[in-house]
Amino acid sequence: MLRSTSALLLTRLATTTIRAMAAIDSSGCAGECYADGTYQRGSRLRLGLVRHGESMNNVHEAQGTYKTGRVADPELSPRGRRQAEVLGAFLGNTSKAEYFGLGKIDEIWVSPHRRTLDTAAPAAKATGLAPRVYTDIFEAGGIYDANDAYDAFVARGGMTRAEMQAAHPTYVLPDAVDATGWYRGPGKESDDECRARAKRVLERVRATASGLKDSRNVLVVAHYDFISAFLDAVLVPGTTGEFARWRHHNTAVTVVDIEQATGEVAFMKVNAAPHIYEADEGLLSGFPL
Ligand SMILES: *[C@@H]1O[C@H](CO)[C@@H](O)[C@H](O)[C@H]1NC(C)=O
Repeated sequence: MLRSTSALLLTRLATTTIRAMAAIDSSGCAGECYADGTYQRGSRLRLGLVRHGESMNNVHEAQGTYKTGRVADPELSPRGRRQAEVLGAFLGNTSKAEYFGLGKIDEIWVSPHRRTLDTAAPAAKATGLAPRVYTDIFEAGGIYDANDAYDAFVARGGMTRAEMQAAHPTYVLPDAVDATGWYRGPGKESDDECRARAKRVLERVRATASGLKDSRNVLVVAHYDFISAFLDAVLVPGTTGEFARWRHHNTAVTVVDIEQATGEVAFMKVNAAPHIYEADEGLLSGFPL
């Protein structure tokens, strides 16, 4: 009696599951839907958008010496390196990473600045993934030198292919990173040029999402202004000028889902830094609280 009841339940469960799957396939159940009382979601591309660890330029910003102290492509500060390490350790533990919905990370995308390449390294090691360098997710402004008055700018190329390969032998570099570097702007990129680029990146990731069969999770190591521009492109695409709508601590994670069927974006987390609080509150940096 007991056995046949269980068998019946199992059969019902299997039937429900099959019907639910069929519902997704035939109706294109997009963000979410209910099939036979079962909560179902379609495939999505999940992006964990990470701001790099504290850079030496960030240290100059905090100390009021940015204009005279900044360099075109700064290294991480000692605190920034520590932030990157605790992020990597956190993401390397599946149950902790699941706080971000990133218990399984399929890919790491990284901006070609020195500070983002270095920030991604501990996470790459912890997950066993080879980060892919993308030259369209660089920080607003690009790579440039400025005079001490900070009103005249000269574009620089950024790290060359050989430099990048020497620093990070496992990373996958696009052809756009060559012997002259990767930054091609004629000077300092304007905020609105960055916003236009972020919209192109949004279209690129929507195209990636639309081609997915199964859900995928991608860690994207980028920058304060670029992530802000990307989020504005999603929510308030008419925004112009400076990046005032969002706050990102160094190595904090903002998690968004891009639905495969519709391209719609859903927000999971904003500026989340449990790895910092868990390790040492003194590691928190990025903007004054
Ligand atoms: C992963 O984190 C959990 C707490 O979320 C902890 O219980 C577990 O011991 C950690 N695993 C490793 C291998 O450190």
